[in-house]
Amino acid sequence: MVNSIVYLSKANREFTEQELQALCADFATKNKLLNITGFLYFKNGMFLQYIESSDDAVQTLLKTLKKDDRHTIYFECSFNTFSTICFPSWQMNWLTLNLGFNQSNQQLLLNTIQFIVNMDLSEGNHLETIKNLVLRVRDTIYCL
Ligand SMILES: Cc1cc2nc3c(=O)[nH]c(=O)nc-3n(C[C@H](O)[C@H](O)[C@H](O)COP(=O)(O)O)c2cc1C
Repeated sequence: MVNSIVYLSKANREFTEQELQALCADFATKNKLLNITGFLYFKNGMFLQYIESSDDAVQTLLKTLKKDDRHTIYFECSFNTFSTICFPSWQMNWLTLNLGFNQSNQQLLLNTIQFIVNMDLSEGNHLETIKNLVLRVRDTIYCL
């Protein structure tokens, strides 16, 4: 069983692409030690991050993330319905159009993420949409 968390946050300052790249490399080093994998997406001052682990490490990381004043988390959801880790080799991968995979798949993926970022979170149960997003990212990667 995999513990998964998706959250959305608002950046509290500007981030450049170079900075995000460097930050993700730093996060990846830390996540490797904690057996955490996932991805980070950033657009229009908003972060969407997916973190997963086969142990409780993700909840500990979430507590740390909530205290990080570089962003403010305004939506989070946890689930444990995946039976296997989705991104075994992504310690923390920044999702950009430069990842080097198929252009139309990338666009589909980024559009889906953008849809979630723009979703009205005050309404309905978004869990299914969010799980589908993670699976779509995974499947897009798997069909590279
Ligand atoms: C958008 C965002 C995503 C982050 N993702 C991670 C992450 O995946 N792993 C991690 O260890 N820290 C991540 N951090 C940093 C943590 O909030 C925190 O600063 C860091 O874990 C503290 O590490 P330290 O105790 O070694 O200084 C993230 C921060 C931000 C703003």
